[in-house]
Amino acid sequence: MVLSDKTEKMLNDISNAMMDKGAITSVGKACVAFVGANVVYRVSRNLKRDAHGGTFTDFFAGGFNILSNKESILSRDKVKDTVDSYESLFDGVHKETGKSNSDDSIKKREKEYKTMVDSYYNLVTDFYEMGWGQSFHFAPRVKGETLVESIKRCEYYLALRAGMGPKTKAIDVGCGVGGPMRNIQQFTGSDITGVTINEYQVKVGNEYCQQKGIDDKCRLVQGDFQKLNEIFEPDTYDVAFAIEATCHSPDRVQCFSGVNKALKKGGIFVGYEWIVLPEGGFDKNNKRHIKIKEGIEVGSGLPTLATSADIVKALEDSGFEVLEHFDANKGVHRPNQIPWYDTLNGTYTIKGFRSTRLGRLCTHIMVSTLEFLWIAPKGTTQVSTLLSANALDLVEGGKDEIFTPSYFFMARKK
Ligand SMILES: C[S@@+](CC[C@H](N)C(=O)[O-])C[C@H]1O[C@@H](n2cnc3c(N)ncnc32)[C@H](O)[C@@H]1O
Repeated sequence: MVLSDKTEKMLNDISNAMMDKGAITSVGKACVAFVGANVVYRVSRNLKRDAHGGTFTDFFAGGFNILSNKESILSRDKVKDTVDSYESLFDGVHKETGKSNSDDSIKKREKEYKTMVDSYYNLVTDFYEMGWGQSFHFAPRVKGETLVESIKRCEYYLALRAGMGPKTKAIDVGCGVGGPMRNIQQFTGSDITGVTINEYQVKVGNEYCQQKGIDDKCRLVQGDFQKLNEIFEPDTYDVAFAIEATCHSPDRVQCFSGVNKALKKGGIFVGYEWIVLPEGGFDKNNKRHIKIKEGIEVGSGLPTLATSADIVKALEDSGFEVLEHFDANKGVHRPNQIPWYDTLNGTYTIKGFRSTRLGRLCTHIMVSTLEFLWIAPKGTTQVSTLLSANALDLVEGGKDEIFTPSYFFMARKK
């Protein structure tokens, strides 16, 4: 956050004058802090988005603008209601194991998927950017790599396997704010259109594409990936990729069939799926496993987690020949690997600090304070709590190897 010299001087003068007169009681000081913080808030509201270095990297400017900046779609007074109604779709979670995994509860979320996912991303997009960056996904990691290097390697791997190059026309299915598609565009020279259901992400992502000077080759459109035929001409694209996005789908056959239709014959669909791993010991009759699964679902806006067999079957039922599929995190605890969940668990680097337990605690204290001062909208702390709990469940799922966010698949349109 940058205050103009004039504003800073004015704030100093006001507080010095008041101190000199000794007129401030403790209550008065609190009022000055409150007013001062609000002045700073108003001055710093014009968040400068930064496609290159990261938008929320400045602790204050980031915190002061979270869930309330000029691109925000959700109005400040709707944050609390939105997070309440989002959480009501996961009734019983963290209290009564199995309740949110009942058929009725899952069906309710499948029916309400649009509101559920859109609300979720209205609430968490700023937190994701602040804690993680513009690519909203995990990555298989090897020793010696930074988190950003792992994330980019994971994206470039998809581009490599799909054979992308300057002549490729591609779709990013569930593109977030477009971090991966911009990296892949700059790596391959391809033309990429990303789809997300969330209007806020489209606004932010297109601003970043412009800042990077690649908006002629890379754009985000708002749309539902359950209805891709309403967005894309049939038989037009060479490649589609989906990174940790179709886990939100209420019906993968519908989603993948839309991808299939948009691809040319022989077109390639690659991606990473979030799944539970019966092959790694996930047992649906084990209470601890269900507790972790439900925790991941509520913290990430998912109807229900699938298995690898579900993914393969859905691809086949959608007109694809499945060429390859495997858990890219296999061997996650070998000495040469860094577990994909490691950053969430607490590896301290300057860049990665915010994603660590202590970093999350600092963010939590910051947003609680800002909410208390009426700077952050009411409900912001609740979102922060939701994400912190989610991080713990993801770590447990990763440690037990009963969950992976990186189930790689590659399929060809028949
Ligand atoms: C975890 S984020 C991943 C984003 C991106 N692939 C990345 O790695 O940065 C999931 C994305 O899927 C999108 N999404 C979920 N359901 C969707 C739907 N029905 N239609 C379009 N986008 C959807 C969300 O809006 C979000 O952008």
